[in-house]
Amino acid sequence: MDRRTMLGGVATAMAGGVTPSALAQPLNPKPGAPGQVGQQNTHAPGAKKIRVEGQTILVTGSNRGIGLGFVKVLLERGARRVYATARKASNLPDVVALDPDRVVGLELDVNNETQRQDAAKAATDVTWLINNAGTPGSFTREERRIASATSLDDAKFVMETNCWSPAEIARLFIPIILKNGGGAITNILSVGAWFCLPEYTSYSMSKAAAAIATAGLRAELDLEPVMVAGVFTGGVQTRMSAAGLKGRASPEEHAREVLDAMAEGHTDVFAGAGSAAMKSRILQDPVAFERGVIERFHTNPLEIPPY
Ligand SMILES: NC(=O)c1ccc[n+]([C@@H]2O[C@H](COP(=O)([O-])OP(=O)(O)OC[C@H]3O[C@@H](n4cnc5c(N)ncnc54)[C@H](OP(=O)(O)O)[C@@H]3O)[C@@H](O)[C@H]2O)c1
Repeated sequence: MDRRTMLGGVATAMAGGVTPSALAQPLNPKPGAPGQVGQQNTHAPGAKKIRVEGQTILVTGSNRGIGLGFVKVLLERGARRVYATARKASNLPDVVALDPDRVVGLELDVNNETQRQDAAKAATDVTWLINNAGTPGSFTREERRIASATSLDDAKFVMETNCWSPAEIARLFIPIILKNGGGAITNILSVGAWFCLPEYTSYSMSKAAAAIATAGLRAELDLEPVMVAGVFTGGVQTRMSAAGLKGRASPEEHAREVLDAMAEGHTDVFAGAGSAAMKSRILQDPVAFERGVIERFHTNPLEIPPY
């Protein structure tokens, strides 16, 4: 199995079935707390919902893969405007050409503070942020681990790209979204947030941290008109995932799943091949699941093709 097969395959290889709503029940709602029926019921699953039509949406990493899939489906579903951002401006013309009246291209390396600030100054009408850009880390397997890495520099870069930078971008766009009357933040996480894939320790670390950051934002914005969703993406046909893997979703299918789930009020979103099934498998027996991952790591470590 190669590196691409791994990121998609970890999702697709599992079986089971847990619905998002079953995983989103409120814990011990107290009488009089905001979750109580009849009050501002933002704690209840499904209390916040959002539809694409009329929204102004900024997507990071939108020049290819899952981000480009989002741009296409957002246009299809009637977005008012889409800010398609990419770290290389030369990758933007094809995306803008999808609908020059509604797509605005912005250069944005998510790790570049000046570009982040510039994006927030340019896109003042945003109502929905989709933090999609992400990296799997170094080409070298050892550098993506802890004990075997020559330093933790690459792991820190992965953490910056996949966790800290989306958080910085959210901080910049929350006031904008609120000024525009509310909206949503969607963070593209991964099934890799639920467990450590030892060949991609730094990636799993970054996505787990980003999942907690997403939950933190959801709590902070609970009483504001901003829906905060984390997407536990499974296998999707992109450069980052398995080339030959069967059953992977297309980027457009993944986008539709995410947008449908958010329209129904789900904030923990399972999208892409194998996502919900993997969650079910982990919940059934987390120790056995981790043991299976470690044994596979010893007997059949993943190969790393050029990315
Ligand atoms: N595909 C899957 O099966 C899968 C599974 C779980 C989670 N995900 C997540 O889905 C998201 C999108 O990945 P993908 O599958 O679409 O992979 P992809 O095709 O490799 O796309 C990654 C995107 O992120 C961009 N990017 C990387 N670093 C960036 C930076 N510093 N600033 C701005 N953009 C940056 C890339 O831009 P360049 O073109 O300039 O490199 C590219 O547009 C990632 O967060 C990934 O972790 C994917």
